[in-house]
Amino acid sequence: MLKTRMTELLGIEHPVQCGSMQWLSRAELVAAVANAGGFACLVAATMGSPEALAEEILKTKDLTDRPFGVNVSLFPTLTAQDIAALIQVVIDHGVKIIETAGRNPEPYRPQIKDGGLIHVHKCARVRDAAKTSRMGLDAVAVVGTEAGGHPGMGGVTSMVLIPKAADAVDVPLIAGGGICDGRSLAAALALGADGVVMGTRFMNTRECLLHPEVKARLEKAAEMETVMVMESIQNPGRVLRNAWAEKVLGMEREGRPLEELAPLISGQNSLKALTQGVVEEGLIYCGQVVGRVEDTPSVAELMDRIVSEAAEVKARLDGMYRS
Ligand SMILES: Cc1cc2nc3c(=O)[nH]c(=O)nc-3n(C[C@H](O)[C@H](O)[C@H](O)COP(=O)(O)O)c2cc1C
Repeated sequence: MLKTRMTELLGIEHPVQCGSMQWLSRAELVAAVANAGGFACLVAATMGSPEALAEEILKTKDLTDRPFGVNVSLFPTLTAQDIAALIQVVIDHGVKIIETAGRNPEPYRPQIKDGGLIHVHKCARVRDAAKTSRMGLDAVAVVGTEAGGHPGMGGVTSMVLIPKAADAVDVPLIAGGGICDGRSLAAALALGADGVVMGTRFMNTRECLLHPEVKARLEKAAEMETVMVMESIQNPGRVLRNAWAEKVLGMEREGRPLEELAPLISGQNSLKALTQGVVEEGLIYCGQVVGRVEDTPSVAELMDRIVSEAAEVKARLDGMYRS
């Protein structure tokens, strides 16, 4: 059993977060992770409205009585009022943990603090992690450039980012980007983290509503089969290198403007690819660690495996020490 500042803060059993994933982090997956002793968040952006978010929170509460959170992205596509309304739903529905990401969370601190929420902010640069820690948040998450989703512009790998962030923050540190098992969990803890966040690994779990065709494709994908798109519009996203990603990259190389890219990078195409199994017809976000994902277990099986592997790593390392 691993007890860390992350498990203590969030009231969970294992220092493992299932990364918040637009379209995929729905009640079934979030509750399965919570029931398996980990931490997961619903993604407010998936639900699209405060009312729909409230419904999904109630659904999740029907499936688990363990702690879970809500991820609120602070991207400029939402107005400050929209974001405040989503945060209010989290507070009003008795969810105790909020994860923000995407931009500086400072404008929303008073509402989040007054609402009594545990506040985790996810970022990709050491300086943002340090700033967040100084702001008095409860925990910081950092993700290296290997990560699926939007790992930021820095291009820094987890191996360098995690220890630098650990040295720069005073609060519990959750580390992600390239983590999928007990070995990488133990490595992140060794680098100074208090726990980990894994997105790509949880895409291939039975409770994740990702289409079986996409799960099968990801099981076969190699570690070099991801690519960073949207760097030309300063919003890099790591995705599977499929025909759609190649098309977007080609347009970016030609210097096409955002208006022309927009229809291809829209969330609706990703939703279709992820849930209808049209593997080549949308951006499929995933990290380099997809090359280490080779099966689709249940969340509980995966969590057990991660925890027992981490214990094996400890035994192996202990065996290396000689007095
Ligand atoms: C399909 C997918 C969707 C994601 N959507 C979001 C999101 O909506 N909000 C967010 O903060 N992070 C999002 N992420 C990032 C994850 O929460 C997590 O930080 C990342 O996956 C960790 O790196 P890994 O993929 O190497 O495990 C997404 C990642 C994936 C793979």
